[in-house]
Amino acid sequence: MTLSFRDMSSMSSRDTFEPRCDDLPTMLQPHIETVLVTGASGYIGGRLVPELVARGYRVRAMVRGPETGDLVSWPEVEVVTADALHRESLDRALVGVTVAYYLIHSMVLGPEEFARADLQSARNFREAAQDAGVERIIYLGGLGEQRRGLSHHLESRQQVAEVLADGSVPCTILRASIIIGSGSASFEIIKGLIDRLPVIPFPTWADNLSQPIGIRDVVKYLVGVMELPSEGDRTFDIGGLEVLTYRQMMIELASVLGKRTRFVRVPIHGTRLVAYAISLLTPVPAPISMCLTGGLKVDTICSRNAIQTLIPFQPISYREALVRALSREEQDRVATRWSDAYPPAHELSIKLHQLRRPPRYRAAYERETERSASALFTAIMRIGGREGWFDANWMWRLRGAFDRMIFGVGAARGRRSASELRIGDVIDFWRVEDLQPERRLLLRSEMRMPGRAWLEFTVEDLGTKRRLGITAHYATRSVNGRAYWRFFEPFHWYIFARLLRQIERRSR
Ligand SMILES: NC(=O)c1ccc[n+]([C@@H]2O[C@H](COP(=O)([O-])OP(=O)(O)OC[C@H]3O[C@@H](n4cnc5c(N)ncnc54)[C@H](OP(=O)(O)O)[C@@H]3O)[C@@H](O)[C@H]2O)c1
Repeated sequence: MTLSFRDMSSMSSRDTFEPRCDDLPTMLQPHIETVLVTGASGYIGGRLVPELVARGYRVRAMVRGPETGDLVSWPEVEVVTADALHRESLDRALVGVTVAYYLIHSMVLGPEEFARADLQSARNFREAAQDAGVERIIYLGGLGEQRRGLSHHLESRQQVAEVLADGSVPCTILRASIIIGSGSASFEIIKGLIDRLPVIPFPTWADNLSQPIGIRDVVKYLVGVMELPSEGDRTFDIGGLEVLTYRQMMIELASVLGKRTRFVRVPIHGTRLVAYAISLLTPVPAPISMCLTGGLKVDTICSRNAIQTLIPFQPISYREALVRALSREEQDRVATRWSDAYPPAHELSIKLHQLRRPPRYRAAYERETERSASALFTAIMRIGGREGWFDANWMWRLRGAFDRMIFGVGAARGRRSASELRIGDVIDFWRVEDLQPERRLLLRSEMRMPGRAWLEFTVEDLGTKRRLGITAHYATRSVNGRAYWRFFEPFHWYIFARLLRQIERRSR
């Protein structure tokens, strides 16, 4: 099965991969037989896997479901399915593993649940790693000192570190503050605010300090610590060159973007209101923005700096990290994005073909055309994100804005790449469930609604012509669900007939 598609003018993500670790002062460790990367479908894990492969390690990537995203570009990576909340599923993942990266995080399960889930996952993982004879666990957590007004999120990150280190397997803990890179949630928040607001109000905590670090340096440190001799449990803080206030960080990005943004101080002390506003103004939804802004109320700067001597290299400056992130976006080469793992466990969602009965509600629209299958599919693959939905955009946006207001994912998530799609990618409030180049694109809705919805694009070859089709599938058993379908039914014809025309027009 073909899992990803990029239009003909661009290359696969493997072709555009640039190793970050070539100048690392540490050396490949031949005694390391297999490296397990957990959280491989996440933002950091997805970047670490190719780096380890390029470095020459045998890598096993642990994911929860079959939507393996970019892993398809790295066929030498062994993919194993396991859920850290189920202890027994970890045993198979850990067989023969020398070093295990622990990059599991359930931040977006919601404030009540994520800390409990993260602690249970860490306990299970520590026990399973012990039983499997793993030689080292490497964990990336957050900066911030315990009992100093840490947010619930940062406190939970520290507790996970303690749990992992509380076993017989030596544990190396890296702690980072804000990570800047294309596709990182922090970067998209700052950029989203600067893009949209000519005047940015600054709460009182905007003068707290942070030590942002570029994603490339995070990956280098993650690989580098594995290549250091293991000396029991160790904690290293990793940060960039500068210590900055959040206000300075915004001002710097405004300057890089050439924006004349004004900043005004406002007497707001809390973070919840700010997080909610961020979720309405930027691609990052409330569950993530709440966790991230909660952490801004304390300073997050490096204090355990031994890593600079052990793995000496010059981290990039904050400005360079911004410029690199912007240029990756500009070149449409974003490798992983925060939305890859959001909402959590999306990989476990029921697929259309897994339903016991086909959905009861279905609306199909089609159009015959002389355009080639390749041209039609290339147009389909560019749908959503910055390009919008080609027609009646305001309707899609309105539905997305409503979803955001009720703490859904909304339409503002956009997409990782404007031209490339792979199974598991996000397109606004959809996720790619199936992708068969020149034949079928199936999107699963992640909006809040009283049922499950899919949108299917098909191209069928009829000899001299092609049949271009759009089908909406909707499965529900509730009264509300039926009412929901009936309410939106009249809009379908309007939206989809116009969308078909636009796809044909854009495939010239
Ligand atoms: N990103 C940052 O800016 C940043 C900054 C500082 C520190 N960190 C730290 O870096 C680490 C990784 O963060 P990230 O940004 O890569 O997170 P992320 O994108 O949210 O990814 C989290 C990963 O954990 C997996 N996961 C969640 N619950 C699981 C379970 N029960 N069993 C197995 N896998 C599970 C998710 O898989 P699914 O796809 O199946 O949900 C996903 O792959 C975290 O410890 C975080 O605190 C990140």
